[in-house]
Amino acid sequence: MASKAPLSLLLSLLVTSAFVAAEASAGPISRTVDITWGDGRGKFLNNGRLLTLSLDNSSGSGLQSKSKFLYGKFDMQIKLVRGNSAGTVVAYYLRSPGLNWDEIDFEFLGNLTGHPYVLHTNIFTGGQGNREQQFYLWFDPTAAFHTYSVVWNPSNIIIYVDNTPIREFKNLRSVGVPYPMKQPMRVFGSLWDADDWATRGGLVKTNWTLAPFTASFRNLNYDACIISNGRSSCKPKSSKRFMIQKLDLAGQNRLKAVQSKYMIYNYCVDKKRFPIVPIECTLS
Ligand SMILES: *[C@@H]1O[C@H](CO)[C@@H](O)[C@H](O)[C@H]1NC(C)=O
Ligand SMILES: *[C@@H]1O[C@H](CO)[C@@H](O)[C@H](O)[C@H]1NC(C)=O
Ligand SMILES: *[C@@H]1O[C@H](CO)[C@@H](O)[C@H](O)[C@H]1NC(C)=O
Repeated sequence: MASKAPLSLLLSLLVTSAFVAAEASAGPISRTVDITWGDGRGKFLNNGRLLTLSLDNSSGSGLQSKSKFLYGKFDMQIKLVRGNSAGTVVAYYLRSPGLNWDEIDFEFLGNLTGHPYVLHTNIFTGGQGNREQQFYLWFDPTAAFHTYSVVWNPSNIIIYVDNTPIREFKNLRSVGVPYPMKQPMRVFGSLWDADDWATRGGLVKTNWTLAPFTASFRNLNYDACIISNGRSSCKPKSSKRFMIQKLDLAGQNRLKAVQSKYMIYNYCVDKKRFPIVPIECTLS
C-alpha cells in the first residue's frame, strides 16, 4: 500500500494535469461567473465559493459565465429553494445570443412542500425549441447540493444528474436535424417567478409571504473550449476527453432505466403536439 501510493498519486497527477491543460476550471464560483441581474439579490458568500440567488415579489436574479464556449463539459452544483417553492423556477443553461440562438436547458420547477420538483429540459437549435423532456428526481434536491452536467461536443449532447445520464441528443445533421456547432454559448443561472405555468401547469401560485426564496450554486467546473476574440482554446488540437465523450452500452442502459422510471413528459411521444414524430425521436 505505502509503496504503491506514490505511483498512483503520480499517475493521477499526470492524468489530472493533462486534463487541466484543456481549460479546466475549479475553485471559487466568483472566478468563473458574474452576477448579472437582480439588483443585489444575487450574492457571493464564503470567499466567492458560494453564490446565492434570490427572488422576491419585485425581482429574481441571475448569473452568467465570464467565458463563452464552443463545446465542453460543464458541471454545476445546485441546491434548490427549500420548503414551499411553488411558482418559482431555478434555471441552469447554456445559450448563445441572437435570434437564432442555441440553448441547452435545465429548469427546476418548484412545488408545494412535500411535493416533487420537476426537472424540465429542452434543447434549442437556431431559435427553435419544442424538445421538452421532464423528470422527477430520485432525491430531495433542496436538502443538499447535487451536480447537474452538460456534455456538448460535435457528436452529441448528454445531460447528467449526479453523473447519471438522463438525456441524449445526437448530432443528426446528416438527416436534417439542426445541431449546435457554430455559436459559442455562455453558462447561465437564474431564479425567477413563473407561477403562470410552472407548478401543476400554473394552478399553484407563488406564496409571496414566504419570500425571499433562495437557491445556491457552487463549483461551476468546466473542461471546455473557450472562445476568446474569435479564437478557440481548443486550437491547436490537443486531446480532450469531452470532445469524444458519448454513452457506451452501460451508459445507454442507465439512460433507459432512468427514463423509464423518472421521465414524466417526452415530446417524442406527444402525438397531439407532434402528429409527425420528430426525426431525432425516430432515430434514438
Ligand atoms: C412585496 O413584498 C413587500 C414585503 O413583504 C410588501 O411590503 C409589498 O407590499 C409587496 N408588493 C407587492 C406588489 O406585492
Ligand atoms: C407538484 O406536485 C404535484 C402533485 O404531487 C405533481 O403532480 C406535480 O408534477 C409536481 N410538480 C410540479 C412542478 O407541478
Ligand atoms: C402562505 O404562507 C403562509 C405562511 O406559511 C400561510 O400562512 C398561508 O396560508 C399561505 N398562503 C396560501 C395561499 O397557501
